[in-house]
Amino acid sequence: MPTALLTGAAGKVGRYVIGALGRRGLEVVATDIRSDGIPLDARFEHCDLTDATAVTRLVSLVKPDVIVHCAAIVAPISYAEPELSEAVNLGGTEHLIEAAKKHASDAFFVFVSSYAAFGPCGPADPVRRAMDPCYPDDNYGLQKLTAESWLQQSGLRQCSLRLGAVMDLQHMMPDHPAYRPFVFMVSLEQPEHGVDVRDAARAIGSAAVVQPDGHVLLIGGDDSWKLPARQLRRDVFGAMGLSAPPEKAFRPNPDPNGSDGWFYECWMDAASSERLLSFQRVTHAGFMDELRRRNRRQRIALAPLRPFASRAFAIASPYTGRKAIEAAPTIWEDICRVYDVPDDVAKNRSSIPPPPSPFERPSTAV
Ligand SMILES: NC(=O)c1ccc[n+]([C@@H]2O[C@H](COP(=O)([O-])OP(=O)(O)OC[C@H]3O[C@@H](n4cnc5c(N)ncnc54)[C@H](O)[C@@H]3O)[C@@H](O)[C@H]2O)c1
Repeated sequence: MPTALLTGAAGKVGRYVIGALGRRGLEVVATDIRSDGIPLDARFEHCDLTDATAVTRLVSLVKPDVIVHCAAIVAPISYAEPELSEAVNLGGTEHLIEAAKKHASDAFFVFVSSYAAFGPCGPADPVRRAMDPCYPDDNYGLQKLTAESWLQQSGLRQCSLRLGAVMDLQHMMPDHPAYRPFVFMVSLEQPEHGVDVRDAARAIGSAAVVQPDGHVLLIGGDDSWKLPARQLRRDVFGAMGLSAPPEKAFRPNPDPNGSDGWFYECWMDAASSERLLSFQRVTHAGFMDELRRRNRRQRIALAPLRPFASRAFAIASPYTGRKAIEAAPTIWEDICRVYDVPDDVAKNRSSIPPPPSPFERPSTAV
């Protein structure tokens, strides 16, 4: 039975990928720095990806046939903790590629990337395709694009999957405090492309089996998931028994005809990924029905509090709260102020100069 080494296995996406790989006949070795949420019958190996020696030891021990790299510091945590984000998203990926080249050079490497790699996208921009040029404007998007290119130059067989906004019925309100201001920082007309976490896991599991070498694949839900942020916020808040925050609490919509000032979310053409990986099962309406059913009791309990929610949101927003800021021309400038991003990261999206590829493309004899 082929073996898959899965990083970030305890994360929102990773814990679903364990099952997706297992159902496709792969023996899974799950790794992470935490083990909560990992099924007790799964093989788990603790490993901090920022520790190059530990990563080498793990890869040489497991000798995987497939590496599925889900671990990351995601946005907006990457804004609150930029050094950690760099250490994991760049350093961790570099260690994993290096270890794979030494100890599992035939393994197929599935890199779980993000549509953040494309950079800002406004409502008038065309639907993004895999080969469109990328201009990431935040540290997270730049790290994802850099890691994709390192992998492409590594000589390993590989693909990158750029995921849209992953929605999990069980984790709609993330715990990390970085999310609290961030809810308000995406303008309401921002195009967003959601995908149910079970569909995202199906895509990742299929990629581990189909092994589309050299591909960049866009992973979003079917067309029903291509929505403006306004509708996604209203649907989710409504299903959970909360009234959506007042409009003024959100970052004002930038010029609708340009990309500047918008967030990196976009609508993607996922048709070719769907043909290759066959993962889209859950529609947006189906997801929302399930969310409403799950939260029926909470909705009833919260009903008396609805009138107070609007005021509480206005206070929590970085645009209308106590230390309110004026929206800057780009969202990155707002991020730097709200999260107190260090000057060097603010300027370069990185605390170190733009990283050159540490991986030489192997010379091919002609
Ligand atoms: N959640 C989304 O909406 C979304 C969207 C696009 C792309 N993605 C990508 O999908 C992947 C999974 O995202 P997620 O939502 O499950 O994130 P998550 O934060 O829930 O999970 C990430 C996992 O990585 C682990 N990790 C962090 N630092 C580590 C380290 N030093 N060593 C080992 N493991 C470490 C964490 O413990 C965590 O379990 C990421 O690569 C992310 O960039 C996610």
